Amino acid sequence: MTHAHITSWALALILFFVALYLQKSGKEKGAKIVQMVLRVFYILILITGIQLIMGLASLPFSYIAKIVFGILSIGFVEMVLVRGKKGKSTTLFWVLLLVSLAITIYLGFSLPV
Ligand code: HEM
Repeated sequence: MTHAHITSWALALILFFVALYLQKSGKEKGAKIVQMVLRVFYILILITGIQLIMGLASLPFSYIAKIVFGILSIGFVEMVLVRGKKGKSTTLFWVLLLVSLAITIYLGFSLPV
């Protein structure tokens, strides 16, 4: 299940950059389709994450932090794409995304499962 979880978020990250690229090059239809596929991957990340939690006997704080930052990262990806599409500034959400993604990946790899 750990592999499925890592595969899900790694593919989601790639799809995020593809969607950004399509958005920037004015291919709105393509960007929309990739973003829809990306949203399916959010669900896969959540499902595989929840399955990892179910394998635990207890839920220490570090796991709760991991889950919160994981969900926040997904939220910031969505904010960057949606604000980008509307032509609004994405700088703040880029910073928030990079910080929360770094924390999520760090916590993920430092936790024992
Ligand atoms: C963009 C979002 C996310 C990223 C980048 C991410 C990243 C990671 C990474 C790198 C690991 C370590 C895998 C390993 O040890 O081999 C991991 C494990 C885990 N993730 Fe996520 N994750 C994300 C979202 C989530 C969400 C939303 C949840 C909960 C619903 C979640 C729950 C877990 C759990 C429970 C583990 C096992 C921790 C352990 O190693 O003991 N993750 N994740």
